[in-house]
Formats: sequence, structure tokens, C-alpha cells
Amino acid sequence: MKVDVVLGLQWGDEGKGKVVDVLTPNYNVIARFQGGPNAGHTLIFNGEKYVLHTIPSGIFRSEVSNIIGNGVVIDPLILMDEIAKLRQSGKVIDARNLKIAKKAHLILPTHRVLDAASENAKGKAKIGSTLKGIGPTYMDKTGRNGLRVGDLLSGKFEERYTALKTKHLDMIATYNFEFDITEYEGKWLNAVEELKKFDIIDSEHYVNDALLAGQTILAEGAQGSLLDIDFGTYPFVTSSNTVCAGVCTGLGVAPTSIGNVYGIFKAYCTRVGSGPFPTELFDADGDAMCDVGREIGSTTGRRRRCGWLDMVALKYSVMINGVSKLIMMKCDVLNDFDTIKIATGYKIGGVVTDKFPYECSDDIEPIYTSLKGWKCDLAECKTYEQFPSELKDYIKYIEDATGVPVSIVSIGPDREETIIR
Ligand code: GDP
Ligand code: IMO
Ligand code: MG
Repeated sequence: MKVDVVLGLQWGDEGKGKVVDVLTPNYNVIARFQGGPNAGHTLIFNGEKYVLHTIPSGIFRSEVSNIIGNGVVIDPLILMDEIAKLRQSGKVIDARNLKIAKKAHLILPTHRVLDAASENAKGKAKIGSTLKGIGPTYMDKTGRNGLRVGDLLSGKFEERYTALKTKHLDMIATYNFEFDITEYEGKWLNAVEELKKFDIIDSEHYVNDALLAGQTILAEGAQGSLLDIDFGTYPFVTSSNTVCAGVCTGLGVAPTSIGNVYGIFKAYCTRVGSGPFPTELFDADGDAMCDVGREIGSTTGRRRRCGWLDMVALKYSVMINGVSKLIMMKCDVLNDFDTIKIATGYKIGGVVTDKFPYECSDDIEPIYTSLKGWKCDLAECKTYEQFPSELKDYIKYIEDATGVPVSIVSIGPDREETIIR
């Protein structure tokens, strides 16, 4: 068997949580491979809304095994809060349906302080981080200083924790930054004790054994390809490989074990936090996308920036990830638009290109093509055939430009509002 992958092709928040939830009945295992509680994945069904940060989006379907893989960074307190909330809503979470990689790195309270201090020091150049400690934790991982979930079981955890915390405090002292972690740290250490009771596994063995046993696995991406540490709009990115290659390192599966790559994109674009966004709108159209699309961050509550679909960026993401199937989200948000634009090229210093550049600076002028809007409610559509011709034209345009079929179209936030072709 192969590992199928769901990942975002834009700047995150494409609707990965919803799609993983919709696809989960086809899989035995759902696994997160990178990122951490900077993610906010929304699922809506039976009139209830849930937002997941660290737990894979397969958690609501019984019989599915959910894995937090080695590539993920975990804040035990956020994870335990998430579990407590799910349990309050009646969900059973135990060793059967949630497994945590020994090799996943831990986000310490002082990682969060370092994140905040570093952002503060950057002033106007700040990344717009979610301030969950993601960057400093991955820095300690690559710097070979990090603490891993498996260390909790080692008997030397306290000693290692104190050593790393002391190192962090020295680093924080170089910033002019006030903080008090006493309360957070107390709760965090309690959460660590709770975390130890979970099923802590060698996830690379679990995943490969599952494949050999004929089980189906879906890897759930967090963030989006344009936030990837290597290929995103650096330095305004996150600190992990959000692209398909991250599945191999974040779960321990070979490249030859990757199956379908589902690339998710919104019918327009959004971005939360700082950084370049060539097709960003500062007009009534952008406001309409934000208001109708309820574009408010699931993790930080920040208003998301909105703009037209960017084919230069989308084609780049399709290339980097080897996307085999596209999934288009939030078409309903464009229901009232007379005209829908797509950026097909960038004019940079008078030169036109359709290649995503090294740096997306402010002097990029997007070149647009316009398509006719469908101007109707999509709620009644139950099949692709029932879509208005203008929406079919929009989909066809994207398929022709990317060379990849659009296999799922989402027309509302609910699990049911999904058209599978
Ligand atoms: P993720 O991080 O990729 O899982 O996406 P988020 O959950 O952060 O953001 C997607 C938002 O769009 C959530 O509020 C979803 O409920 C919502 N959503 C998902 N699909 C659709 C859709 O087709 N139409 C509309 N209107 N909302 C959607
Ligand atoms: P999901 O999985 C959208 C953005 C932050 C910031 C940058 C770096 O829900 O799609 P970090 O906290 O990683 O240091 O922030 O990345 N960012 C996201 N934007 N969706 C996310 O996750 C994001 N995770 C991080 O806003 O600009
Ligand atoms: Mg999100």
C-alpha cells in the first residue's frame, strides 16, 4: 500500500481539516507529519464545529488510528487541552485512536517566550508568527538541542529540561523582553505527566508495518506550500517542510511509498500574518471574500488577507508537490461576483514571467485574466453536472493551466457540502 497525502497549496487554511474528515472513511490511519499547534483545522458536521491544532482530523471517525508523527512539534499543554475539550463533547480518546511519535519534539514554555521575544525584536519586519513556539522548537531540533517525547520516558527528563530551559533563559536575556512563565510552566509540567499516559510509539515502524499489512494511510499536512521553509515566501514562512517531501521525513516513509497527492486550494487566496501576497486585494472585493468566507484565523483569531487566485503560485505548488488530484475549496464564497480574476503571470521590473520568483517583492504586478462569475447559490448542487456552466469553465481553466484534474469541489463548510467527481 501507499501513503496518500492531503496538503495545502497556498498559505494555509485551505480547508485541509474538512477534506481529511471527508476522506477519512477510506483510510485506516490518519497521520500528521509536520507543524504543530500553529495549525487550526476546522471540521463541521451535525451542526457542530471543532477546531483541531495537533490532533489529526480523523479523530471523529471510529476505528481510525490517528498518529502525531515524528515531524510534528508538540506543546503538551495545548495537546492535553485539545483532548480535554474533545472528551467534554463525548469523544473517547485513548491508545486505540491516538498515537504519538517518540521522536516528535516538545515545545517548551521557554520556546514560546523565545518566539515572542524574537518577533518583538523584529518590529515591522516580524513574521506574524502564531507565537506557539514553532520556530524556536525546530531551531533546537536542527541545532541538536531539542527534547523529544521519548525523553519523557528516559528518567533523565528533569535534568534535560532544566538544562535546555537555562540555555533559553540566557538567550532571552539578550532581548529586552519581559515575561513570566511560572503559571504556564506549572500547567505544562502537569500536562507532561498526562502525555506520558498516552500511547507513545516508534511511529516510523508503526506506519511501515501498517503499509505492509495492507492498511490505508492518509498523511495530513498543516500550513501550506507557500509557507514551506525551503520553497515558501522566505523568510515569511513557518519552520517545517510543509510540502510532500515532508511526509517522508515527518513519518519515515520512503518516497516510493507516496501514493495520491491531494493538493487543496481555495477558489481565491488568503494569507494570515506578514509577507508577500501578489494578488492581495485592498478593495470591496477583498472585503467581500473576507466577510462571506469568514476569513478569521482558526488559531489566532486574526483577520485573513484576501485576494484573487494566483496561478503562478498554484502551478509552482503543484510542481513542488507532484500533485495528482486537486481539491478546490470555498467556491460558494465567490457566488455573488460578476467577474472572477485569476493571475496568470507576474510583471517584475517590466518583464513578464509565469515562474514563481526567488523573492516576491512589492514590485510584482500581477497580470490577470477575467472569467464570468456564476452569480447563483451553489447550495442546491449535489453533483458536478448540476454546477452552473461558469463554474465548470472556472474549473476547466484551472485544470488546463495546471494539467491536474480537480477531483473534489467544496461548496460550504459542512462535511456534506462536498462534491466528489
Ligand atoms: P485548514 O487549516 O486548512 O484546515 O483550514 P481552516 O479550518 O483554518 O480554514 C478553513 C475555513 O473555511 C474553516 O472555517 C472552514 O469551516 C471553512 N470552509 C471549508 N470549506 C469551505 C467551503 O467550501 N465553503 C465555505 N464557505 N467555508 C469553508
Ligand atoms: P493551518 O494548518 C495559516 C503562518 C503564521 C505566520 C507564519 C509563521 O491551519 O493551515 P509560525 O507560528 O509557524 O511561526 O508562523 O505562518 N501560519 C499559518 N497560516 N494557517 C496555518 O496553519 C499557519 N501556521 C502558521 O500566520 O505568518
Ligand atoms: Mg487553519
